Amino acid sequence: MCGIIGYLGEREATPVLLESLKRLEYRGYDSAGVAVLEAPKPGSPISTSITKSEAKVDDLIAKIQAIKPTGHLGIGHTRWATHGRPTYINAHPHTDCHGRIFVVHNGIIENFAELREELQKAGHEFTSETDTEVVPHLIEANYKGDFLAAVRAALKRIRGAYALAMFSTEDPELLIGARLNAPLVVGLGEQEFYIASDITAIIPYTKRVLVLGEGEVAAVTPLGAEVSTLDGTTVKPKLVHVDWDVSQAQKGGYPHFMLKEINEASEAVANAMRGRLTDDGSVTFREFALTDEELRRYREVLLLGMGTSRHAALIGEHAIEDWAGLPARAVDAAEFRYRRPTFGPDTLAVIITQSGETADTMVGLHQAKERGALTVAVTNVFASSAARDADGAIYLHAGPEIGVASSKTFLAHLVSLYLLALRLATVHGRISLERRQELVASLRAVPDQVRGILDREQEIKTLAHRYSKYRNFLYTGRGLGYPVALEGALKLKEISYVHAEGVTGGELKHGPIALLDAKFPVIAICTASPTAEKMVSNVHEIVARDAPVLALVTEGDDSLDGVATDRFVMPAAEEAASAILNSVMLQLFAYHVAVELGQDVDQPRNLAKSVTVE
Ligand code: G6P
Repeated sequence: MCGIIGYLGEREATPVLLESLKRLEYRGYDSAGVAVLEAPKPGSPISTSITKSEAKVDDLIAKIQAIKPTGHLGIGHTRWATHGRPTYINAHPHTDCHGRIFVVHNGIIENFAELREELQKAGHEFTSETDTEVVPHLIEANYKGDFLAAVRAALKRIRGAYALAMFSTEDPELLIGARLNAPLVVGLGEQEFYIASDITAIIPYTKRVLVLGEGEVAAVTPLGAEVSTLDGTTVKPKLVHVDWDVSQAQKGGYPHFMLKEINEASEAVANAMRGRLTDDGSVTFREFALTDEELRRYREVLLLGMGTSRHAALIGEHAIEDWAGLPARAVDAAEFRYRRPTFGPDTLAVIITQSGETADTMVGLHQAKERGALTVAVTNVFASSAARDADGAIYLHAGPEIGVASSKTFLAHLVSLYLLALRLATVHGRISLERRQELVASLRAVPDQVRGILDREQEIKTLAHRYSKYRNFLYTGRGLGYPVALEGALKLKEISYVHAEGVTGGELKHGPIALLDAKFPVIAICTASPTAEKMVSNVHEIVARDAPVLALVTEGDDSLDGVATDRFVMPAAEEAASAILNSVMLQLFAYHVAVELGQDVDQPRNLAKSVTVE
């Protein structure tokens, strides 16, 4: 994962690749590299110059200045580590055993472990820890004199997500791009072509872009770009004229990073499950690979986090308790260190932090470790402090998040915690196979259901417009709906500076109801759950105090028709899946209220993306 650029044309490739990588820096990355097919020198074989840096693009530029590779075909990459630490060896491009095939990759190859084993048995030698490196070796294994055919044959074996740019010394006028579940475009210039993961990379060079579809391959030669499927059927790609400037392009055409990142929710949810879950609910985590027997030793679960991550912890607590039947406690990480320890070596401490650097959470991690608990960090940032210091790590694979207020990473946290809950439930024998299958089917449906919510942005914007006149909000829910309400309220206050708080439906009548009147709206999470009927009663109590109510209800449930001021109808789903879907809706709602109020959505006042002080 992170940024891809490929170039074939009349210009020198190196400066184009480096300038494009500079424009991709905004996405966040930890290492970078380029490979350039060197212009043939009389009498010498075709060669490739490969330069990498385990630091920033500027360091790469400094290194290249000493080498000065010349050539008209090349690929470049900024890496944001997912499999394998951010080191020189793991930086892209990767190559085959004989240095003939060069590949840069975004995404996650789910079946890389089995492919790597198969290729190693056949004699291929691997040098990195990455999933990407299987790609050049697999192409090499399939190469019978036709590079494009070898690429197609190799990609048919790959499961997961990929955006790839590739070339081979055997075919020095061919640049290949391919994608599945990860974006890739082909830029069409005058006598030159580009392949990029992100339009930002190529925007100063061309405004004409071919958007590749899922499972499509682009073969780019000096004569043009041909797009086909993995079976070789030619397809007519979509040609788009882009009129964005660089800053619009970095946001993918969205006005804010936060909106772009909310729109990446479906992909983030899918990536958090990718390669970890079977249909019958067996879960495998690569960097937290305890055996069933080892995991069974842990009889209690502590979940530590701050802010949005604490809300994810509360949802994890609920799922672990409900599915695995284990005592689980979500704790404010900053409070945790001052409390009397009531746990020990049979405790699993789950450290929830998207950045992996939050100081309060790190202190909690160290305390838990010192007191003998087994620690696992659930984080989005590879090799972050939390990932390094904990005994194991579960990565979110959500891609970089630039907006200060967490959006897609919260959803990926929920998925990761659900998978952990399923794993614990299975090893402790507390869940039937049938129930596991139901939960898996429900989680698998979430990415498409999320897309359905995102498609209804206009409906949410209209509601936000109507509610943006209020200065106070109460969010309420029960069960998983309660942490969802807390997070909905936090999102609203973080980015719109409107006062909002979350309470349980039960707690409402014990105090907060005193606040309610016609100027104090309530957002009520009333989607299907074991406590949905109780929420309906709560909405009646609220309406009786003249407070406006926006209720999230499940399709087919008409119990609040004519009762709630507004209803937003959600698709039918398990309560766990609904927590994700409801959160997407509430993120979009908060976003549009903030925009309506003219606030700085991506960089709200007084907040930082990662708070590294206690
Ligand atoms: C800061 C951010 C919050 C975030 C919290 C935890 O306070 O402003 O939005 O939820 O840190 O961040 P983490 O990176 O640990 O998930």
